[in-house]
Amino acid sequence: MTQDFSVVFVCLGNICRSPTAHGALRNKVATAGLSDFVTVDSAGTGSWHVGSPPDLRAQKTASSYDVSIDDLRARQVDPVDLTRFDYVIAMDRQNYTDLRSLAVEHGLYADRISLLTDWGEGESIDGVPDPYAGGQDGFRHVFELIDAHTDGVIDALRTDLHTG
Ligand code: 4NP
Repeated sequence: MTQDFSVVFVCLGNICRSPTAHGALRNKVATAGLSDFVTVDSAGTGSWHVGSPPDLRAQKTASSYDVSIDDLRARQVDPVDLTRFDYVIAMDRQNYTDLRSLAVEHGLYADRISLLTDWGEGESIDGVPDPYAGGQDGFRHVFELIDAHTDGVIDALRTDLHTG
């Protein structure tokens, strides 16, 4: 293993979907013994919830799958994230479009940006739906989508680390 890799997940508020993905991938990285080589982070395109912990419904759902996210705090995405992270992974199509615009605006690496649901073998769907206005069931669906598609991310990271 010759190189470290970094991943940032981006949603709108950074209190539901992206912290869930952050926690899910962090656990997979730890289980794979790769914590010393992979940095995982998350951010929101919006600033409303900066400094807040994840939504309690997201915390409760993640915890029911043995994923702890209560230590995370929301922050807003920074253009420099597009240079600091190898993978900038949007949770839905709007987040993806917003990140692409940010990259173009700042002349940065748009090719690092992807959509989580394009990774791996999970349910074929165009982005992880925003669960904020719905109920606990929506959060469970969101968790299942994130869990399946972050399997694709950890597989890619393993390959990167062994070939990079
Ligand atoms: P997230 O969900 O983008 O998955 O964190 C949302 C959280 C807050 C809001 C929207 C979506 N909001 O409008 O405050």
